[in-house]
Amino acid sequence: MGKERTIFVCQKCGSQAPRWLGRCPDCGEWGSLVEERIAQAVLSPVGPGSMGGKAAQPLSIAEIETTGEDRMKTQMNEFDRVLGGGFVPGSIVLVGGDPGIGKSTLILQSLDRMAGAGFPILYVTGEESLRQVKMRAERLGAGSSGLHLLAETCLERIIEAGEKMNPRVMAVDSIQTVFSESLTSAPGSLSQVREVAGRLMYFSKASGITTLIVGHVTKEGAIAGPKALEHIVDAVLYFEGDRGHAYRILRSVKNRFGSVSEIGVFEMREDGLQEIVNPSELFLSERPKESSGSVVVSSVEGSRPLLVELQALVCPTSFGLPRRTSIGVDYNRVSLLVAVLEKKVGLHLSDKDIFVNVAGGISIDEPAVDLGVISAVASSSMDKPIDPHTIIIGEVGLGGEVRAVRFAETRAKEGARLGFTRCLIPEGNKKKMKPMEGMEITGVATIAGALDLIF
Ligand code: TYD
Ligand code: MG
Repeated sequence: MGKERTIFVCQKCGSQAPRWLGRCPDCGEWGSLVEERIAQAVLSPVGPGSMGGKAAQPLSIAEIETTGEDRMKTQMNEFDRVLGGGFVPGSIVLVGGDPGIGKSTLILQSLDRMAGAGFPILYVTGEESLRQVKMRAERLGAGSSGLHLLAETCLERIIEAGEKMNPRVMAVDSIQTVFSESLTSAPGSLSQVREVAGRLMYFSKASGITTLIVGHVTKEGAIAGPKALEHIVDAVLYFEGDRGHAYRILRSVKNRFGSVSEIGVFEMREDGLQEIVNPSELFLSERPKESSGSVVVSSVEGSRPLLVELQALVCPTSFGLPRRTSIGVDYNRVSLLVAVLEKKVGLHLSDKDIFVNVAGGISIDEPAVDLGVISAVASSSMDKPIDPHTIIIGEVGLGGEVRAVRFAETRAKEGARLGFTRCLIPEGNKKKMKPMEGMEITGVATIAGALDLIF
């Protein structure tokens, strides 16, 4: 071990101080500085530079050879889609998410299938015993002989085992349980998590073994969680979902080898995760027909249109101040749209409580649902249901005008595929669109015009 020194590291922002302070001078957090001893000599280099041990030489870009991408399929289409076609050999991928959301399940399931397809796999568990993992695997119907398990939390021993076995993919579940002997701080602390990720990065680049790291999103969000590692790894995927709902979304927020806007949709079942090929069907499955305040809108995630049900409830305020609550769509956006509705259509809402909710617990962050929000609020306020075979698409401006959106055609097509027969879209999009079989496409220019057509 090299020379040791003591420093104090803020567990929130990672800044270092030579002595203890009650408050972090950088991020202002109280009581976040923790003493850590660092052996200076062993801090590893991070990055693909002088991997071979000798100093790297500059090369002309023309001289650099690229091998044809031989991606390894995860054997789960939804997972492959998010990765951009499978794992790139030698890459390091972080899968983050809340504890209990299903990260271990996802990884065990896909690695087992990869093992079944002939790739040697090493799954390192720092949280569960080998028997626990085996029991889970049995429940998932997994158990390919090419899947090797190792219960270990010491980084040096994990790397040694990886070098000895030389698998195609090595998964470390989870990074918060792994520690490096070169640091004295506790597993899960910021410096350990960073050191472990940095060393695994070095290991995977040098060996060509794809490394998957599982990281729990910690309570306060940023502290020693996946956020702190995003700059080190090649790809960052988040596994999201609402514990109260069965569906899960795998989303990529960083990908050095592919697009970041694709999502994968899964359903958590008794026997593990099931890929959802038609997510719109899942999100619309419980929609009430002929009920006021309910409307079907379209959100595009990556290249994929999702139809979801948006609901509004408008009722008289029982206290002086009217309430506006929104779940799944931006609160400020809803307030703005309600104001536009009042001003431009003359609907009286200042003495009404308004609740807006996206069914299924999904969040939409797209202006293309504006017109849907307006229609749902108007529908509930007037207690008139919206035709259940209509989908509503459009961004709304402060003047009450309906503005063109991206991917209008893709959205309408998804509607037609699911049996919707009418689609309201912005006039600006309508002009560029060809007629669609089985779908009556109506262009609208203002919200007043749209509401006239709907009711
Ligand atoms: P897990 O993969 O252990 O979550 P993470 O690794 O992200 O902490 O998943 C835990 C939850 O998933 C647990 O509450 C039970 C549920 N689950 C199922 O519903 N079906 C299954 O087949 C499995 C394995 C888990
Ligand atoms: Mg787990």
